[in-house]
Amino acid sequence: MCGIVGYIGGNQATPILLNGLEKLEYRGYDSAGVAVYHNNAVNVVKSKGRLKNLCDLLEQDQSVTGTLGIGHTRWATHGEPSDINSHPHSSEHGTFVVVHNGIIENYLYLRDYLIGEGKHFTSETDTEVIAQLLEYYYNGNILDTIIKILSKITGAYALGIICKDNPDTLYAIRKDSPLIVGLGKNENFIASDIPAIIDKTRNIYRLNDNEIALIKRDGVAVYNTAKEIITKNKVYIDWDITAAEKDGYKHFMLKEIMEQPKAVHNTISPRLINGQVVLDELKLSEQDLKKLNKIVIVACGSAYHVGVVAKYAIEKVVRIPVEIDIASEFRYRDPIIDEHVLVLVISQSGETADTLAALRESKKLGARVLSIVNVVGSSIANESDDVLYTWAGPEISVATTKAYSTQLSMVYMLVLYMADMLGTISKQEYQTYITDLEKLPVLIEKTISDTKSIQAVASKYFQYENIFFIGRNIDYALSLEGSLKLKEISYIHSEAYAAGELKHGSISLIEDGTLVVALATYEALFDKMMSNIKEVKARGATVLSLTTEDKIMIESETDEIFYIPKINSMMLPSLAVLPLQLFAYYIANHRDCDIDKPRNLAKSVTVE
Ligand code: G6P
Repeated sequence: MCGIVGYIGGNQATPILLNGLEKLEYRGYDSAGVAVYHNNAVNVVKSKGRLKNLCDLLEQDQSVTGTLGIGHTRWATHGEPSDINSHPHSSEHGTFVVVHNGIIENYLYLRDYLIGEGKHFTSETDTEVIAQLLEYYYNGNILDTIIKILSKITGAYALGIICKDNPDTLYAIRKDSPLIVGLGKNENFIASDIPAIIDKTRNIYRLNDNEIALIKRDGVAVYNTAKEIITKNKVYIDWDITAAEKDGYKHFMLKEIMEQPKAVHNTISPRLINGQVVLDELKLSEQDLKKLNKIVIVACGSAYHVGVVAKYAIEKVVRIPVEIDIASEFRYRDPIIDEHVLVLVISQSGETADTLAALRESKKLGARVLSIVNVVGSSIANESDDVLYTWAGPEISVATTKAYSTQLSMVYMLVLYMADMLGTISKQEYQTYITDLEKLPVLIEKTISDTKSIQAVASKYFQYENIFFIGRNIDYALSLEGSLKLKEISYIHSEAYAAGELKHGSISLIEDGTLVVALATYEALFDKMMSNIKEVKARGATVLSLTTEDKIMIESETDEIFYIPKINSMMLPSLAVLPLQLFAYYIANHRDCDIDKPRNLAKSVTVE
């Protein structure tokens, strides 16, 4: 999704902005631009397409020099991807120049109003309204003008603003869209995400909603909308900088797949103490748990798929009823939620707009919210009653792999924690799970150590245009993720079905040579899956099965097989997802796709 970077200091802004934008490319974008203050004007250069186009333009245009600037990568929402719709946007007379992440919901009303007042618009975007409004209300005091327009706009926004009347200050504001201020020595930065500036500074302020930062070369002042100064706490980012580098891998996705043993180990090991799951960060007591009559899981994308696994695991082991919903559906379905409901929110970024809105809706209705989040200090983490952090480290590839795996392992620990507290499993079962949990990183390592057979299968099927994934129970939950992974990075049409549901319509799509990926890791329903495999084979399908290493009898029924090590059924998805990630990766690689930045997709979906 859109990315923002801004700079004020003693160095040339343009190379710093371009370097920052390059680091944000992974978020997904379709155009890019920069604006730099120079000789009483703010010069804007922008272009549709990849950053390379912008760099080419900048090489020809020497007017974009100066030490105050803002840059943006745009992921189109209002108005097609085009040079004109790219950010930064200027007000009609060039007094204000703005970059914006988010959506201004009342922009049509404001645009009509401003047109009625004689303003001329050049783009189709909601963002231009902000620049025009600033100029319209400008009374010589920039902070007052910003506060004034904030009362006029509704929606979500992170904004970087330059005013041509003040070359000493960069302005930044946020509401419901992330923005940080990077604190350097005689230079300061803004960014929508840490990777954009981590090679410049590790000291940051995280802006909260409705905070306005006035950023000068030698200092930062943050105000609320009542013009009171806010004291901000400096946060030190201790990320390993190589986490944001490819480290010899062709793609971040492959690097992140291979980082899963470490990421899962980092998530589990601090919480496994003397054979017990210890979740010190949870304030959820036994009494709180006992008064629950249901758990509702909300999330988007792959995090939602983790939720589907969690539903099976919680209901089976903890015996509390679980509902699961896609966050964008949940928020508008008038859900039945009260203080007896625990809402479990799952999110890598902690900033997904629909998930955040679902969290807020749940709290409004009286529920307690527990979130599983990867990004420390993100909005979802800040607004939850309890947070369990996954320690996946920064994930750059748009298609998630290691964050998904760490979320799964966090779910298992939560399940064991709750089951132990409520006494729904025996001591012996508990110990068996703990032993498996301890082994999980090593088993993940083992499963990804040999990719040759997966590469060989991918090279046979990469030209297929329709691939089906089927499974039952947790294998169904997994088939959702396997199918999503494949379609998002390879652009192959793919669907996931509960295997038993196939007969109710979708089996009509199976014909000679259709590839069906049959997930058959869940022992209790293995025989049922064998029947489903036979059904699709009988209709001409080619079958790729995924099962545990003890199920060699499947070989006579299937064309290709991926085996995974055996583990208890709750934790099987952690191993079974690995060949599916690698299969999707190698297929996409054969098809020469832009694996880390698939078309139209964004890493963190901060708009509705
Ligand atoms: C986007 C990403 C997915 C992710 C989903 C939810 O669609 O491409 O990989 O699963 O958002 O994001 P979150 O940050 O809330 O986990």
